[in-house]
Amino acid sequence: AISTEIDLALFGALGDLAQRKLFPSLFHLEREGLLDPATRLLGLARQEHDRDSFRAQVQKTLKTRVKAEELDREALERFLARLDFLQLDFTHPEGYAAIHEWRQGAERPMVVYLSVAARIYGDICRHLESTGCLDDESRVVVEKPIGYDLASSAEINDAIGAVFPESRIYRIDHYLGKETVQNLIALRFANPLFGTQWNQNHISHVEITVAEQVGIEGRWGYFDDAGQLRDMVQNHLLQLVCLIAMDPPANLDADAIRDEKVKVLKALKPFTDDMLGRDVVRGQYIAGTIDGRSVPGYLEEEGANTESHTESFVAMKTGVANWRWAGVPFYLRTGKRMPEKLSQIVIHFRQQPHYIFDPDQRDLAANKLVIRLQPEEGIALEVLTKDSGLDKGMRLRRGPLHLDFNSAFPKTRIPDAYERLLLEVMKGQQYLFVRRDEVEYAWRWCDSLNAAWKDRDEPPRRYPAGSWGPVASIAMITQDGRSWYEDY
Ligand code: BG6
Repeated sequence: AISTEIDLALFGALGDLAQRKLFPSLFHLEREGLLDPATRLLGLARQEHDRDSFRAQVQKTLKTRVKAEELDREALERFLARLDFLQLDFTHPEGYAAIHEWRQGAERPMVVYLSVAARIYGDICRHLESTGCLDDESRVVVEKPIGYDLASSAEINDAIGAVFPESRIYRIDHYLGKETVQNLIALRFANPLFGTQWNQNHISHVEITVAEQVGIEGRWGYFDDAGQLRDMVQNHLLQLVCLIAMDPPANLDADAIRDEKVKVLKALKPFTDDMLGRDVVRGQYIAGTIDGRSVPGYLEEEGANTESHTESFVAMKTGVANWRWAGVPFYLRTGKRMPEKLSQIVIHFRQQPHYIFDPDQRDLAANKLVIRLQPEEGIALEVLTKDSGLDKGMRLRRGPLHLDFNSAFPKTRIPDAYERLLLEVMKGQQYLFVRRDEVEYAWRWCDSLNAAWKDRDEPPRRYPAGSWGPVASIAMITQDGRSWYEDY
């Protein structure tokens, strides 16, 4: 078995991500017996704490974030006993000697997790190196957003790369840790049925929806500079496009997979000016109602600048200009404050070459593969059967062949993305992490769209919170005689 024994130094240990995701995920690994007995965790933050008060803080977090029946006492004690704390000003080298001391004599690799603003990634890496905290087994984990555009991301990647080689840099896109996202690889490459059909001869178009109910969650400062294109499309949606569109990798090695993903990113259709009004829609929510609750508009959020033109929704028609996907539109949409949380991919297959049933049922006559990433993870293949009943003749009826993961495999808990990702980092396996060139090709493509938007300088279209986005995003797909998929 591959060793998972590490020392984890977590920068930003009192931050939102650490408290909301990382500690609960590490605890679940503990509970499942997946943390090596020797593994230690060092929390680093600017705030004042000692080891005991830090442990108490983490315990408090776990009590609110982990279900009571999963908060097993023995596991909790084991977990808390691994924790140490160090108060540190990350941008000054002085305090780093204490990390070196903490590592004294430890032979296991050190994993440095940077859950802090990307602009200080470089400083931290340099200080770790200059104080002798690193060796040639140390790994670094970094969070998105890596930069704001191609130039700024290159700067950040250079700063990390000056200290760590690419083979020891783990760039997180947490969508890659989602069970159902990994399932795309199994679905496509383990099932000959799909393997043979997965191209422009058989697929008419692809639809990806990543809808969120949440707004910007008090993150105005970050979000208003970014917008939904940078926050969601540049990373999560493009990773989904890659996994759907890539050619089969020769094996499951990290670079075999990432080489194929990069080819997709290089082949994304660039934006031209005339596409802007027609094939790309930007939206911003105004006040509305979600689940019967009134919510404020984007410009009324806490700390908002009321002039902002930042988009909280984007829909676009794009494509992958290569042999496999020529002429197949990829319709993407993602937004905040939608009616429900829903991430779903729909593969629409082409119709049969010759149609023999009722002419008025023609629109029904194509298979759809619906891959539900969250919630209610599952896969459904919409097939056509004969409608039953003596009076129905050869009328057709649509129905799903449905694999709902929770009911098909009731005993398996679907782990949080971060559990999987942390485990892979501990094992030193990179296939679920994003390589530098992926980040950069994705930025290149987003930059071309952002530049075109900037030239036009048009305000985003309004949509009420609790709706599926601006009407123009519906028109964008209906102009092609299609519609966003609704049933499941
Ligand atoms: C993050 C974005 O990367 O992903 C957030 O910064 C977004 O704005 C989140 O809400 C969505 O993740 P998930 O796992 O809830 O779909």
